[in-house]
Amino acid sequence: MENLVITNIGQLITLASLPLPRSGDDLSELSIIENAALVCRSGIIDWVGKLDDLPSMDNYKAIDAKNSVVTPGLVDAHTHPVFAGTREQEYELKILGKTYQEIAALGGGIRSTVRRTRATSEEDLLKESRNHIDLLASHGTTTIEAKSGYGLSLVDEIKSLQVIKKLNQENKLELIPTFLGAHEIPDEYRNSRDEYINLLIEEMIPAVAKENLAKYCDIFCESHVFSIDESRRILTTAKNYGLNLRLHADQLKLSGGARLAAELKATTADHLEHIDMEGIMALKEANVMPVLLPGSVFHLGLKQYPPARTMIQAGLPIVLATDFNPGSSPTPSLPMVMSLACTQMRMTPAEALTACTINAAYSLGLSEKIGSIEIGKQADLVIFNCPDYRQIPYFFGTNLVNTVIKQGMITFQKS
Ligand code: NIG
Ligand code: FE
Repeated sequence: MENLVITNIGQLITLASLPLPRSGDDLSELSIIENAALVCRSGIIDWVGKLDDLPSMDNYKAIDAKNSVVTPGLVDAHTHPVFAGTREQEYELKILGKTYQEIAALGGGIRSTVRRTRATSEEDLLKESRNHIDLLASHGTTTIEAKSGYGLSLVDEIKSLQVIKKLNQENKLELIPTFLGAHEIPDEYRNSRDEYINLLIEEMIPAVAKENLAKYCDIFCESHVFSIDESRRILTTAKNYGLNLRLHADQLKLSGGARLAAELKATTADHLEHIDMEGIMALKEANVMPVLLPGSVFHLGLKQYPPARTMIQAGLPIVLATDFNPGSSPTPSLPMVMSLACTQMRMTPAEALTACTINAAYSLGLSEKIGSIEIGKQADLVIFNCPDYRQIPYFFGTNLVNTVIKQGMITFQKS
């Protein structure tokens, strides 16, 4: 691991030292140091301060930030990066008027990606997924939560989780694995859904837990996929096997997913476009973090974004993530997600940045190590080509990332 000194930082966005997870006014406090410098030793942040106070650093690799913005490495707390193929034909069908649910009912949607993922060898799936990881890294992301969910059989789910494990060993990004075997009912169980649920409960969850292949268990809890009662059964089993919970909840309709997340003391409830006030209060009461995914609303051409301002007023510690996947949100860009959060959900640029750094890290149980720039934390950093952090969401659709550093190593540099 290299020793690095970064000089001439125009704005160092530290997000240092406030109680976690952040909510209310604390979402806006970035603790910026202007005209700053930063030193990393053996992958760890060793010194942070004003450039004028920087001691002389012989034998350190020097990077001149040219008065630009440096932030913590971005943390994407909801991604589906392991899949084969793409679904641009469905994108066109949706533009022409079909809904996401109609396409799913016709055998498209998640099930079409499942067919292609199953037909791909582990080696080729690793290659394809590595391309997704490279895309995420090039947009400033240094840690992701990574779901399986396009295998939907014991061997194919294990294959996807093995791919996640291998990608993690490559050290470009840190991947936190989530088992999403309950993403859809696969083709061969359409007429016997209870059998698939039994398979999840009796074989798949126990095997994933025994092999230690996942930290979390997730489910697509939605009226056309898994019902509240089915979700409760599956998630309770996962919890008994020691997995923590994250749920796709209240995405396309209000079905009570947020309330179930609260009842089961899940770590997060994700999507929440259709949550009601009762759901918001239940999350608050049970300390469940909301993970908001405006990329999927945008890509599906829907109108209803999650009610971020109401959640902030209620004191919820918001997280933002890409939901990177081939069906509802094929964007690897957290800066683009920040743009959507700002203009469509009325979050300020500071709130949006907090939601995809320190709060996202907290939601993954990693806030002691990552998510802010503080001495002793991992040197996960992004240098953006701009002088003011508000330009990150302002230049929507533009990748301003100049350099990405993961544990003191440069993992991406604009050529
Ligand atoms: O988060 N909602 C469920 N899963 C994904 C979509 C997956 C797909 O369409 O392939 C989501 O939106
Ligand atoms: Fe998702």
